[in-house]
Amino acid sequence: MTPAPVSPEVTAFFDADTNTISYVVKDPGSDACAIVDSVMDIDYAAGRISYDHADEIIAFVNRNKLRVEWLIETHVHADHLSAAPYIQGILGGKLGIGAKITVVQETFGKIFNEGTEFQRDGSQFDRLFEDGDSYMVGGMECHAIHTPGHTPACMTHVMGDAAFVGDTLFMPDGGSARADFPGGDAGTLYDSIQKVLALPGETRLFMCHDYAPNGREIRWETTVAEEKANNIHVGGGRTREEFVKFRTERDASLGMPRLIIPSLQVNMRAGELPPADESGKRFLKVPLNTL
Ligand SMILES: [Fe+2]
Repeated sequence: MTPAPVSPEVTAFFDADTNTISYVVKDPGSDACAIVDSVMDIDYAAGRISYDHADEIIAFVNRNKLRVEWLIETHVHADHLSAAPYIQGILGGKLGIGAKITVVQETFGKIFNEGTEFQRDGSQFDRLFEDGDSYMVGGMECHAIHTPGHTPACMTHVMGDAAFVGDTLFMPDGGSARADFPGGDAGTLYDSIQKVLALPGETRLFMCHDYAPNGREIRWETTVAEEKANNIHVGGGRTREEFVKFRTERDASLGMPRLIIPSLQVNMRAGELPPADESGKRFLKVPLNTL
């Protein structure tokens, strides 16, 4: 019998502006931790960047005398900007994302008409995870599972008995994320969800987003068994065909996320702002009639 996985201490940081949940995941046997899906604040109307959410995480890490070994992005987010480079500059750690980031960079490099100086080889990150790749946080074994469908580079990160699913799943009453961004696919998302549901039933699942459906409180933690039984999109044995039909119809009715344009331009650069132009200022683009 394989020994039971260790159980990391997971601390959640909810960002009310984008309904994103960031996590500090601590190895129970040491002071090592990973930070999953951090958020950089933006007032898009004013073009102003700030770091209140990230500073809260940094203060937590410092207060608890933790050592950041990894900054993990579950995928290239389209609804918030990553603060990973800002946090890395202060706390250190290696920045990792799914290897298929190169596909996302290729797609959005074209959409935003980035020149050849925008590298599309994932070199902005320290580590590109392939399906099944493992790594350590202190003494805790972790591995990445490729879970595309929402986007091509989506990975679920399993750390001990906890899994960080990104936008592969929402809470059981929230269902699943959209699969209609460039490179997304509803059938592929269904297959990826099955990989998550194949983890042990007691595995703790941590969501990247929650939108508090039906007026309940914000929640972000569930289990594999709970999702299998109750997820409104895939639970109770819904077939792939049923899911694809439902997901495709639903996605056709959704508008673009409020922050998709700034988010992609920053997140495809691993959270760095676009380079300054000859005036020394940085700009974001808005491609018209493209998305
Ligand atoms: Fe997402």
